[in-house]
Amino acid sequence: MTDSDIYQSVFERNRQWVKERTEEDPAFFEKLAKEQHPDFLFIGCSDSRVPASAIMGVEPGAVFVHRNVANLVVNIDSNSLSAIHYAVDHLQVKHVVVCGHYGCGGIKAAMQPRDLGILNGWLREIRDVYRLHHDELDAIDDPDETLKRLTELNVREQCINVIKTAVVQRNYLDRKAPRVHGWVYDLSNGYLKDLNFPFDEMLEKVREIYRLTPDPRKDLDLSGKNPPLPAKKKKDD
Ligand code: CO
Repeated sequence: MTDSDIYQSVFERNRQWVKERTEEDPAFFEKLAKEQHPDFLFIGCSDSRVPASAIMGVEPGAVFVHRNVANLVVNIDSNSLSAIHYAVDHLQVKHVVVCGHYGCGGIKAAMQPRDLGILNGWLREIRDVYRLHHDELDAIDDPDETLKRLTELNVREQCINVIKTAVVQRNYLDRKAPRVHGWVYDLSNGYLKDLNFPFDEMLEKVREIYRLTPDPRKDLDLSGKNPPLPAKKKKDD
C-alpha cells in the first residue's frame, strides 16, 4: 500500500462505517447532531493504542475526551483546563477520569537523562511526581515496576490537579458531581484498572489549601473562628 492509498482508505472505511451505522439505526447521526450528554470526561494519553471510547466499550456521545502526552493536567495549560471547564460546567459530566497506561513513552522519556527540547517542560511534570514519591519509587528494585508505579502515581497526582480547579470544586459543592477517578490501562491485555482514587478524602485535603469556592460550612461563618485558610503559627508562639 502506498502512502496515498493509506490516506485514501480512511475515506472508504468512513463511508462503510456510515453505511453500517445508518442501517442499524437510520436516525443515528440525526440524534447525535442535535446534542451531547456524555456522563464521562476522559483525560488520557495521546498514545494511539489508548482510544477512549473503544476501551470503555461506549458509542459516540458517551465520553468527552481530552488527550495529551502522558495524560497531564497542568495548572497553566489552557487546553486541558478548557476541556475540564466545558465538560464539567456545560455538559455537567458525572465522572472525570484520568487514565494513564503502562508502557507510556512519555513516562519513560521523562526518566531519561536527555535534553528533549520542547518536551522538557511538559515532561518535568512527571519528574515532579517522581520527586514527591521518590522514597517509595526508589525502594522498588525492578526498573519496569518503578515505571509502572510512577504511571499510577502520575495518574493520582493528575487527579489531584483536577480537584484543584475551581470548576470541579464548585460543581461538586452544588450538585455532588463530578467525582474524580484514576485508571490505568494495560496495553498488554486490554484491561482497565481502577486505582480507587480516594476522591472524598482528597477533595477535603486539597480544599484545605486550594479552596477556590466558598464552603457554606466554613466560609460563610462570620464569627471569625474559621479563617478561609489554615492559620499560620507565628514564629514566637
Ligand atoms: Co502514554
